[in-house]
Amino acid sequence: MDGACSRTHGKGNPPFGQLGRRAFLLGGKAFRWLNGGVRMEVFTPESLPPPQSGRFRYGVIGSPIAHSLSPAMQLAGFQAAGLDAEYFRIEIPKDDLAKAIPRLLEAGFQGWNCTLPHKTEMFRIVTQKDPSAIEAQSVNTVRVEGRQLHGFSTDAGGWEAAIQETWAVPLNNLQILILGCGGVGQSIARRLARSGCGSLILMNRDPRRAELLNLELKPIVDGRFPLSFLPWTDANLETTLKKTDLIVQATSLGLRETDPLPIPAHFLNAKLKVYDTIYRKGFTPLVRASRERGCSAEDGLAMLLQQGILSWEIWTGKTAPKAAMRQALWQAAEREK
Ligand SMILES: NC(=O)c1ccc[n+]([C@@H]2O[C@H](COP(=O)([O-])OP(=O)(O)OC[C@H]3O[C@@H](n4cnc5c(N)ncnc54)[C@H](OP(=O)(O)O)[C@@H]3O)[C@@H](O)[C@H]2O)c1
Repeated sequence: MDGACSRTHGKGNPPFGQLGRRAFLLGGKAFRWLNGGVRMEVFTPESLPPPQSGRFRYGVIGSPIAHSLSPAMQLAGFQAAGLDAEYFRIEIPKDDLAKAIPRLLEAGFQGWNCTLPHKTEMFRIVTQKDPSAIEAQSVNTVRVEGRQLHGFSTDAGGWEAAIQETWAVPLNNLQILILGCGGVGQSIARRLARSGCGSLILMNRDPRRAELLNLELKPIVDGRFPLSFLPWTDANLETTLKKTDLIVQATSLGLRETDPLPIPAHFLNAKLKVYDTIYRKGFTPLVRASRERGCSAEDGLAMLLQQGILSWEIWTGKTAPKAAMRQALWQAAEREK
């Protein structure tokens, strides 16, 4: 779990004590009534319905947002905990974030998740920054405290928890390649720079981005383990993969079924662990190709679950009902276990 996030539990004013008790007193039948707030459609800040007294309000903002599986997972968590809360998908175009925030506050939100393209801009806007947000230099979770916005990042904590859930292996022993130094790749690399790993190599389509990240992280790593960047070429990939334990695929390649594989399949050897931060129904082409080559490979659904669990706990101050959230997310992704 994300240490930075767990440190914040109990701070602020977790709002559910009274309602949780009410839900409990109303009994099982009340859960359906309390959670009439299932909102699977897409809203804009202008089209949101008026807030209802006593019902807490959360959501996910981004563009595009229609594909988001977060409502199913978060609502299942609220329902399992007996909390009266709703969760909306809200489409906010790239340049409209600053003007959308007052509308969200007027609409009674206690917090929201924040996805592409807003995570960096939200980091600039929030009034308080959790250490997890400062480390990631981005915000994917906001908790409203009065008129103040408290920003967190659960991306790296969610990724760490997903890796542990998948392989239960100490990162300190792993030679790691991060492919893709955009927002998610940077968050994971910044976490590893602090927490440590066996070695870390950074590659990105635009090599300057990997070089800049390498420069930023060098003083943090301070010689504790080998850190480097390499231009993303087939030759470099082939050599690097021979001494890699874990590949973290953090580009957007694989979002579409027709995307090329980020790594030629014949470079994948059976001793590799492959974690693709993307998830797709039926798994990503990289996960499928890796498994065909005998690798242990997982996609980003577990990361989505774990970062959502951390957000839920930041908002409520409670321990998340993880099994219910997992089941709802797996169902929404049509991936029953
Ligand atoms: N599982 C989860 O919970 C979770 C959470 C967040 C994000 N994600 C996934 O992570 C992915 C990356 O998100 P992000 O926030 O890091 O996005 P981002 O900041 O926009 O970065 C995109 C990255 O993809 C690379 N890229 C884009 N098109 C490429 C191509 N055709 N060939 C090679 N590289 C390409 C970019 O390289 P350049 O720098 O060269 O443009 C950059 O490294 C998203 O697709 C998202 O689905 C998953």
